[in-house]
Amino acid sequence: MDTTKTIIIFFFFFFLFSNSPLITISALDFCSNSFCSRKEPAIRFPFRLKNLQPAPCGYPGFNLFCNTFNQTLIDLPNSGKFSVQAIDYARQNILLNDPENCLPKRLLELNLFGSPFKGFFLQDFMFFNCTFDYRNYKFNPIGCLSGENYTVFASSSQRTISFLKSRCNLMAKVAVPVQWNYFEPVMTSDLSDNIRLKWGSPRCGQCESRGGRCGFRNGSNGTQIECTNAAHRGIPAFLFLLGFLCFLCSRVRNYCWRPHRVMEFSTVVAPQPTTVVCGLDNPTIESYPKTILGESCRLPKPDDNICSICLCEYMPKETLRSIPECHHCFHSECIDQWLRLNSSCPVCRNSPGSSPFSPEL
Ligand SMILES: *[C@@H]1O[C@H](CO)[C@@H](O)[C@H](O)[C@H]1NC(C)=O
Ligand SMILES: *[C@@H]1O[C@H](CO)[C@@H](O)[C@H](O)[C@H]1NC(C)=O
Ligand SMILES: *[C@@H]1O[C@H](CO)[C@@H](O)[C@H](O)[C@H]1NC(C)=O
Ligand SMILES: *[C@@H]1O[C@H](CO)[C@@H](O)[C@H](O)[C@H]1NC(C)=O
Ligand SMILES: *[C@@H]1O[C@H](CO)[C@@H](O)[C@H](O)[C@H]1NC(C)=O
Ligand SMILES: *[C@@H]1O[C@H](CO)[C@@H](O)[C@H](O)[C@H]1NC(C)=O
Repeated sequence: MDTTKTIIIFFFFFFLFSNSPLITISALDFCSNSFCSRKEPAIRFPFRLKNLQPAPCGYPGFNLFCNTFNQTLIDLPNSGKFSVQAIDYARQNILLNDPENCLPKRLLELNLFGSPFKGFFLQDFMFFNCTFDYRNYKFNPIGCLSGENYTVFASSSQRTISFLKSRCNLMAKVAVPVQWNYFEPVMTSDLSDNIRLKWGSPRCGQCESRGGRCGFRNGSNGTQIECTNAAHRGIPAFLFLLGFLCFLCSRVRNYCWRPHRVMEFSTVVAPQPTTVVCGLDNPTIESYPKTILGESCRLPKPDDNICSICLCEYMPKETLRSIPECHHCFHSECIDQWLRLNSSCPVCRNSPGSSPFSPEL
């Protein structure tokens, strides 16, 4: 693995110096990927790192910067600083979290007005400030908002909300831009998962998914976007891309190029040290119902036709598998991989056999 990388990088430099007239250094080269650190997401158009890349490398509203801990941050006009966890350039969405590790607090004051971003999946949560003893309930408190004598909960389930309404103070109702599309209401959540935001303009998604590079057209003075295709830029540039790809694959572990194949499940769900759930064996997985799309699989509204594991839209004739306990559907190849590692449903997080509600609710 390491030798392959070394060879590719060697070839890249070999070609760079032996054939340098083939490479024209344009504005685009100047704007190639930057990083706050090796573990942080790669930054390129429409984003730019303010201190490392010149203004024409980024689109207005997409400025990022590195803090002293080498975290990548974005400063949203009405909501303040968030840490950038991952950027999906092809699907034009970004995962954010709170650098101070209390995302629910930030959600209470989230206001995306004035930024180019919107929530990707929105789910309404009610926040409650409670003083009753919740130990008999399967509730998941928000630790960083709770105090010695009160506990804060967030819920999107009508049943739980009416239960909490009669016992607690309603704090707020917030449309949370959740990371994953929880088709079902969530009883209570500590809302510590990333939030997922999308942007509409500039439209570089198609260019990115074709392997091209997006940027301002030279000489357009920041008015026109163009897509330059890496394949047309000569062998050295191609080798550079290949070398860079290897570099990225090995360094940026959170980033998923081909979600169907290289999904990193550790990023899907924040690990909870108290529960140890093991994956399922193949015969059990095979016993879960499979359907070809178009039949009776339980899909939500037409505009939610996305597999919440790979975030790809379901296409006709694709094979889906559903989890018998909760009937959530996923691409068969996505959920099979998941279930081998973890027996719980990635959407509602119920392990097979366990009921989503405590007996009281
Ligand atoms: C970009 O435009 C400037 C003038 O606007 C020109 O001097 C430069 O050569 C151009 N670069 C490329 C790569 O076309
Ligand atoms: C940040 O990165 C720089 C160089 O990349 C390194 O010297 C420095 O130690 C890093 N700082 C932290 C807090 O990791
Ligand atoms: C919750 O209510 C208690 C009083 O019952 C109050 O002292 C506390 O500040 C409240 N917490 C929040 C986060 O609103
Ligand atoms: C919490 O309640 C206990 C007992 O009622 C009381 O002694 C304590 O001062 C309270 N703590 C706070 C922070 O209000
Ligand atoms: C480029 O745009 C800026 C403002 O966006 C303007 O002041 C400047 O005159 C423009 N330059 C050219 C060459 O069009
Ligand atoms: C499986 O996922 C659940 C949440 O969906 C998580 O709490 C648990 O820790 C995971 N188990 C393993 C072994 O990864």
